[in-house]
Parts: sequence; C-alpha cells; structure tokens
Amino acid sequence: MARGILGPLKPLDMHGDPEKALRKTLSWPHLIALGIGAIVGTGIYTLTGVGADRAGPAVILAFAIAGAVCACAALAYAEMATLIPRAGSAYTYSYSVIGESVAWLVGWSLILEYSLACSTVAVGWSGYLVGWIEAAGIDLPDALMAGPHAGGIVNLPAMLVALGVAGMLIGGTRESATLNIVLVVIKMAALALFVVLALPAFSGAHFEPFMPYGFSSHVTADGTTRGVMAAAAIVFFAFYGFDAVATSAEEAKNPGRDLTIGIIGSMAMCTLIYMLVAVSAIGAVSYVDLGKSVEPLAFVLRTLQHPIAAWLIGLGALIALPSVILVMMYGQSRIFFVMSRDGLLPPSLSRVSARTGSPALVTGVTGVFVALVAGFFRLDEIAELANAGTLVAFIAVAACMMILRRRAPELKRVFKCPAPYLVGTLAIAGCLYLISSLPTTTLTRFVAWNILGTAVYLAYGRSRSLAAKGRAVTGD
Ligand code: ALA
Repeated sequence: MARGILGPLKPLDMHGDPEKALRKTLSWPHLIALGIGAIVGTGIYTLTGVGADRAGPAVILAFAIAGAVCACAALAYAEMATLIPRAGSAYTYSYSVIGESVAWLVGWSLILEYSLACSTVAVGWSGYLVGWIEAAGIDLPDALMAGPHAGGIVNLPAMLVALGVAGMLIGGTRESATLNIVLVVIKMAALALFVVLALPAFSGAHFEPFMPYGFSSHVTADGTTRGVMAAAAIVFFAFYGFDAVATSAEEAKNPGRDLTIGIIGSMAMCTLIYMLVAVSAIGAVSYVDLGKSVEPLAFVLRTLQHPIAAWLIGLGALIALPSVILVMMYGQSRIFFVMSRDGLLPPSLSRVSARTGSPALVTGVTGVFVALVAGFFRLDEIAELANAGTLVAFIAVAACMMILRRRAPELKRVFKCPAPYLVGTLAIAGCLYLISSLPTTTLTRFVAWNILGTAVYLAYGRSRSLAAKGRAVTGD
C-alpha cells in the first residue's frame, strides 16, 4: 500500500468493496438539475440582502469576485471528478493524491460545507415562510419563528423543513432527483419573474455611493465585518453546490460526459442569473433597506407595489429552496458514507438500504444535526462557517489537480482544465483571500472544529482506516 508523509494513499483505481457500491442511476440532465438545485438558493434569495448590508451596491462586485473564484475551482473539480469518478469528491481526491490525514481534514471540512449549508438554507426558507404568512395578515408566535439570537426560542419552521427533506432522501435517491427537476424549474421561474418586474424600476441613483464601506474586509464601529471582500466571503455561499454533482460521481451512468456537462453547465447558468438578479435588486431599492430584509427579493417587489408577485416569489422560494437542502444533504450523506466505508467513521454509517439503495442511517443522523443547527443559530454565522469549510475543500481540489498533473501526466483525462497551473493557483489564492476576509469569530470556530476533527481522527479513524490496514487495496 502506498504511503505519503501525510498518511496512507488510496490507489487511484481503488474501487473498494463492490457490495457497498452505490447504484448508477444518474445521467447528465439529473446532474445539471442537481447542480442548479444545489447552487441557486438562499445565497441569491436571502444573502443578497446580507451582502448589500456588508458592501452596499458593490455587492454586485462581491458576486463577481466570488463567482470568478468558484469558476476556477469548478474547472479543477470537473477535471478531478472525471478522473476519479467516485463518491466523496474533495475528500476522495485528497485521499488518493495527498494522503489520509489531509483527506480526513478535508472530509471534516465538507461536513461543515454540506451540513451547515443545509442549515443556512433552512433558516433562509423560514424567513420567507414567516414573511409570506405574515403578509397575508396572519400573526405567528415569534418565539417559535426565530432562534435565541433573534429574540425567539427556536426556529421551528427551519427545523421542520430540514427533517422533512431528510425523510424524502431516506425514501430513495431516484424519486428525490426527479422531484428536484420540478423544483428547479419553479425556482428559476420565480427569479425570472423578479428580474422582469424589478429591472424596469432600475435607478442609477441607487448605486451611489457604490462602495460605502471600501474594498477590504474590516470591522466597522457597530462590530459588523464589512467591505466588498467581507460581502464576497459571504455571498460565496451562493455559488457552491456544483461540487455536490461531483460527490455523486459514482452514481453517474457516463461520468466523463455527464459530470463535465453537469458541473460547468450548472455553474455558468447560475452566474449569469445572479448578476441579473443582483443588478435588478440594487437598482430598484436602497441598499440600506435591502440589507435589513430577511426575504429581500419579496421585499423589493412589495416596495415596487407588486404584492401578488412578491407573494409568488415567496411561494417560489418556499417550494424550491428545499431542493438545495435536498442536494446538499444528499452530498453530505455520501461524504459520511465514503468516510465510513474507508473505516474512518463507524461502519454502520455506510450501510445501504436494500430497498432504496441509499444510506438511510447516515441520512437520518445528518438530518437531525442540520435541524438542530438551523433551529438555534444565526443565518449569516452558519453561512460563513459553511463557507470556511467549502473554501478549504476547494483549495484541496485545486491542489490535487495540480499535483496530479505533475505526478501522473500520462493519466487519460476526460476533462482537462485549461491552463491548469494558472487556474489552480488562482483558485487557491482566491479561496485564501476569501478565508482571510471572514469574520474572526468564524475563523476561530473553524479552527476549533478542526482541532475536534484532529482529535477524532487520532482517537478513532487512524487505527481503523482500511487503507492503513491495506484491506481496501486487496478487497478482503
Ligand atoms: N449555493 C447554495 C445556496 O445559495 C448553497 O443556497
């Protein structure tokens, strides 16, 4: 068995225990829908407001910066996902290219990415639900509509939507992926309606001053981290999710073609839509007001005297945002599944249900974790921590892509990242800049999470790892 200084390495062609393989049920339309299903969500529906609060009208610039970094990472992902078309994405690539200890930390970061992204979207969903019901004149008990940070006790709607989606996933991948396509159509139609109604109200005056808090991330007098980069570090959330397509590589029928179209296609479409939505929103109302709303797109339409359209946008968000949770939770359950199959987490987590072919226990555990975070924590803080985890995973993927180009140039690559060293370096530099723009509290929590992860690895995974025992290589 190969061993690097950072722990055992999985061979690139290692397929593990065939008994524990996932079924190949997905083709490229499923994957594009999975991509858009994961990408378009709370980032554009809700964090546009938070971004406007952090950067003013220059939130548009923040979207462009975050999008550019993600585009570089997406190219690296597409090359790695087609080269190693197995579940686990960044974790699996790091295991094969860098070594087990780094792979573990990347997997540990992916837990933040996927689980906390689900929690963030659940909280964003809850904001639209409450606004939607209250716009109809119905009063809801505040204590059950927001967590302790916002004067409530628990964000019950956020918890319920998270648990509901977990239940759907336990019901079976195939049905959920098909439903996802319907939800994607609804969410895109809602955004199109928003642009059509908000763009005619465009006023250049709303773009003055364009950058009220400057460019770099800094703490302002009220203790909030602001600046274009602070906004970029949070709206970055709006772009990821395409990597969830990569995590389902093992289930793609024709990984080479399907994954390339799935990742690059969904990413390109979403970037275009975000630019349109952000310009329309900022052009239509004052960024200060936009920044205060927990359901900014509905707020814009209400301000423009389109109450029915605002109601419809709210409805679209309510029906469609769960599709993001669906895809991210799906990605999370697969990450846990693979880490457990490798022996780094308890084996019970990789048990596949004979009826649905999906890992049921691990999906249930994920659902409960996601619901608890969503019930009690603040949206921007959860999103920022999810971003920290994602940024680390992106760095790992870009590094793996470049290392493998050098180490194994002869490997047949179905998708080749253009200018790989330039794109890879830009992805890593961009991610590091975004990480450094996150608030100090987020970074402290992230370090604490990784210390916990290291302890779990030393106490459990390192001695039980199948790769370390050489078992996965021989398949015994
Ligand atoms: N990109 C996804 C969203 O914005 C996670 O909701």
